[in-house]
Amino acid sequence: MGLLAELTHRCPLRCPYCSNPLELSRASAELDADTWGRVFHEAAALGVLQLHLSGGEPAVRRDLEAITAHAAAAGLYSNLITSGVMLDGARLRALAAAGLDHVQLSVQDAEATSADRIGGLRGGHERKLRFAAEVRDAGLPLTLNAVVHRQNLDRLDQLIELALQLGAGRLEVAHVQYYGWALRNRDALLPTRAQLDAATAMVEAARGALTGRLVIDYVVPDYYAARPKACMGGWGRSFLAVSPAGRVLPCHAAESLPGLHFPNVRDLSLADIWTGSDAFNRFRGTDWMPEPCRGCDRREQDWGGCRCQAFALTGNAGRTDPACALSPDHHLLDLAVRDAAAATTDFTYREMGRAG
Ligand code: SF4
Ligand code: FES
Repeated sequence: MGLLAELTHRCPLRCPYCSNPLELSRASAELDADTWGRVFHEAAALGVLQLHLSGGEPAVRRDLEAITAHAAAAGLYSNLITSGVMLDGARLRALAAAGLDHVQLSVQDAEATSADRIGGLRGGHERKLRFAAEVRDAGLPLTLNAVVHRQNLDRLDQLIELALQLGAGRLEVAHVQYYGWALRNRDALLPTRAQLDAATAMVEAARGALTGRLVIDYVVPDYYAARPKACMGGWGRSFLAVSPAGRVLPCHAAESLPGLHFPNVRDLSLADIWTGSDAFNRFRGTDWMPEPCRGCDRREQDWGGCRCQAFALTGNAGRTDPACALSPDHHLLDLAVRDAAAATTDFTYREMGRAG
């Protein structure tokens, strides 16, 4: 099992596809390091092996070293998901000494001007490159996470080259997922079919050429797929997220879904929430499924796709994911692609206190 610990929603970047909810948590609501420590021990007892320390930007937390030490004490494999712009070599070495196992660095593009525009932070890209060198010097394994979309997908070859230059062992080419901030910016972000086909062919060629040097993760994005992905490996099956304020979620975007109550680690143990909460049980397994999923032989492979995407596109989290070509709502994706191709919109950047 995996646990995503969202330590904070605070972040110096303002990416228009941010996976955080539109309503961002304030610093005053964040769990303290000792509470995170208790959560990590409860997670380990539940069977969690992998811990992702995320945000926002987790390095905003002055107590990140203490939080990391708690993760190590609980026996979890810790992965720091960071923008890299707030960490220097000294702090990175302190995190390594506290037991950090792995670093995942996000980049917004392969070239600085575009990367800084997308991330909304001047000079950010340069700082990321310096940080990647520090990760190498600290002896920590590095994954490069490149979120791709219409405005950077044509530079995928340069992103692959960048991963090699930075000494990453893995490159995640992550197509934007359209909920939260990304849904708001969908018209500015959706790639064209021609871009997607070129990128897919490029990844296939690079995988062959770089075997043994770089692992490339890549999944065809939902808006061009015929079948959905098993989002989170299936709702309530192997993944849970804890929000900065302590709410326990079946996925990082679940707070966008109306009508679900998410219990808090301040009130209940992780095990009680995992097994007993209405939110985890609502879409767990196959009993909740409507047709066509109910009678489909893929229902225990993709678990009906993504609940957040179903809600974002249809207003009903209990419908089949429109990414599935068997869904009666599948045409909504074609309409979105057509609308995006005709649109000329700028980004709405993520901001604290700007949900509407
Ligand atoms: Fe998956 Fe449902 Fe589509 Fe079948 S009908 S492939 S279970 S989303
Ligand atoms: Fe929430 Fe897919 S992101 S279920």
